[in-house]
Amino acid sequence: MPLPAAFLDELRFRTPLATVVSRRVRLARSGRQWKGCCPFHGEKTPSFYVYEDGHYHCFGCGAHGDAIGFVMQSEGASFSEAVERLAGEAGLELPRPSAEAAEAERKRLNLAGVLEAAQACFHRRLFLPEGRHALAYLRVRGLSEDTIRRFGLGWSGEGRGALLADLGREGIVPDQLVDAGLMRHDDETGRTFGLFFNRVMFPIRDRRGRVISFGGRTLGDGQPKYVNGPETALFAKRRTLYGLDQARAAVRSGAALVVVEGYMDVIALAQAGIGGAVAPLGTALTEEQLGELWRLAPAPILCFDGDAAGSRAAARAADLALPLLGPERTLRLARLPAGDDPDTVVRRQGYEAIRGILASATPLADALYDLMRDAGGEASPEQRAALLTRLDAAASRISDKALSREYRDALRNRFFATRRAARDGRKGLPIRSLPRPHFLPEGATHERCRILTAILLRHPMLLRDVEHAYLGLDLTPPLAALRTALQAWAETADILDSSGLMSHLTLSGLQAEADQVLATAPVPLPACASPAAMPAEAEAGWWHIFGFLSVQRLGEEIALAEAACRADLTPQNQNRLIALKAALNKVASGEPDGAELAA
Ligand code: UTP
Ligand code: MN
Repeated sequence: MPLPAAFLDELRFRTPLATVVSRRVRLARSGRQWKGCCPFHGEKTPSFYVYEDGHYHCFGCGAHGDAIGFVMQSEGASFSEAVERLAGEAGLELPRPSAEAAEAERKRLNLAGVLEAAQACFHRRLFLPEGRHALAYLRVRGLSEDTIRRFGLGWSGEGRGALLADLGREGIVPDQLVDAGLMRHDDETGRTFGLFFNRVMFPIRDRRGRVISFGGRTLGDGQPKYVNGPETALFAKRRTLYGLDQARAAVRSGAALVVVEGYMDVIALAQAGIGGAVAPLGTALTEEQLGELWRLAPAPILCFDGDAAGSRAAARAADLALPLLGPERTLRLARLPAGDDPDTVVRRQGYEAIRGILASATPLADALYDLMRDAGGEASPEQRAALLTRLDAAASRISDKALSREYRDALRNRFFATRRAARDGRKGLPIRSLPRPHFLPEGATHERCRILTAILLRHPMLLRDVEHAYLGLDLTPPLAALRTALQAWAETADILDSSGLMSHLTLSGLQAEADQVLATAPVPLPACASPAAMPAEAEAGWWHIFGFLSVQRLGEEIALAEAACRADLTPQNQNRLIALKAALNKVASGEPDGAELAA
C-alpha cells in the first residue's frame, strides 16, 4: 500500500537534506545553499548544489531529487528501503497499513475511476444529437474541435439523471457519485440528485492530468453562470489551478506561465498558441496556488480581466505574494484594456495582441507602485504622505532582507521621481520610463555601469554571455556610445580580444571615452576588471555587480539560463548558470562588489 502523503511530508521535513548528503559529500555553504563535488559523476570542481527547499541538483550530470531520492540514487536503495532507513534515523515510525487507511486508499483510487468515467460520459454526450446545442455554443465561442477534445469538454445531459443512467450500467452506485462530487444527498428528503444538468462540462484536472472535479457552464446568460464541484477527497479548490497539467508541459518547453481568471481564458489562450495559462477556480489566488506557480516559474504573469474586479484581484495577489517573495519567486502583471479579458482579446485582436500585452508585463515592484497609487491617489500632500507610508510598509513585508531593501529603494525612487516631475511642471513621467529606478545613472549606479563596461573592454569575449543583460542597462551617453561600438565590432570581429577592440574604439573616435571607463582614479577598478583576471573571475564579477543594479533582472537572467540549460546542456550554458547563481548568493548575502567606494 502506498504511504500517506502526510507521512512523507513529515519525513522530508524532519530529514535535512544537507545532513543526509554530507555523509557522502563534503559540502560548503554557498550563500543560502550548499555545494560540493557531485557523488554521481566524477568531477573536480563542485557543480552539485543542495537547496534549502530540500532538493539537490547537479549542473554537471543533471542528477536531481530530494532526501529520499538521494538515498535511492547513492545507495541503490528502493523507494521503500530509502524511506525505512530515513524514518529510522529521524525517529519516525512507519505507518502501519490499517484497515481504515487501506479502505480510504481504495476509495481514492475508486474515486479517480468514477471521475474518469464521468468525464468520458459527458464528452461522449457532447457529440450526440442531444449535445448539439452545447457543441454549437462552444463553436460560437470560437473553439475548434481539436481544442474541445484537448480539454475534454462535455455536455451534462438535459435532466439530473443522465450521468447515473450511464454510469449505473458500469456498476457505479449513487454513493460513489456523491463521494466524487457529482451528486448530492439531501438529508431532509432522503433523495440523491445530480449536481450538473443542462451545462457544458469542463473537467478540472490535477497537475498530472487526472480528473478531480468539474465546472459546468450554462449555455446562455442564466445564473449561476458556473457551478463547480464541491470539495472532495480528491478536489481542494485552494490547491488547484485549472489547466495546470497542460501548462506545465508548455512552460517546460519555454512558454511563459500566465495566470488568468476564467476557464474560457485558459482554453482560448491555449488554442491561440499560448499554452502556459492557468486559472484559480473563481476564488482569489491562494498561497498554495502561488507555491504551485513558483515551483514552475520564477515570475509568473498575472493577466486578470480589465475591470475593477480584475485590478482588485491583482492587488490581492500581490499583497499575498509580498512576504513570500525571493530572488526566484516574484510576479509580473499584465494589464488588459478596460472591458476585456484574455479570451476577448485573443478572439477580437488575435495572437499578436495578447502576446504584446504579455510581453510588456511589468515587474512586481513597478506594478505595486501603480496599484498602491490607484488605491489611494497622490494628488494632495496627505495622499502623497499616505502613499509613501504604504509603499514603505509594503516593502517591509518582504521577508527576504536584500530584496526588501531593493523594493524600498525602487518604490521610493519612483515616488520621488514622480514628485520631482510634478514640481517641474511636467505631467507625471511616462510609466515605461520609470520602472527601472536602479538604472538612473547616479552615484553607485553609474559607477557600476562604468565597471561593467570596463570588464567588457578588457574581456570582450564575455559579451556573448552577458549581452542580453548589458543591452538592458540604461547608460549615460558616453557609456551608451561605447556599448554601441562594442556591439558593432563584436558582430564582425573574428576574435573577440581586447586589443582588437581598443583599436576599433580608437578608430571610431571613442578613445577618450574608453580611457575614462578604464581610468583607475579616483577609485581603482576591482580585480575582475583587470586584464589579468581569468575569464571565470571576470564573468563572476560582472554578474555580481549587475545583481546589485537589479536583483530582479538577475533573477530573470537566471530563469533564462535555466531554460537554456534545459534546452541544451552545454558547458557554456552550465557555467553561465553557475556564475549567475553565485552572483545571486553574493548579492543576497550583501557581499560588497567593489563599486561602493564611489557612492
Ligand atoms: P468569468 O465570468 O470571467 O468566466 O469567471 P469565464 O471563464 O471567462 O467565462 P465566460 O467567458 O463568461 O464564458 C471567472 C471564473 O470564475 C468562476 C469560474 O471558475 C470562471 O471561470 N466562476 C464564475 C464561478 O465559479 N461561478 C460563476 O458563477 C462565475
Ligand atoms: Mn470570459
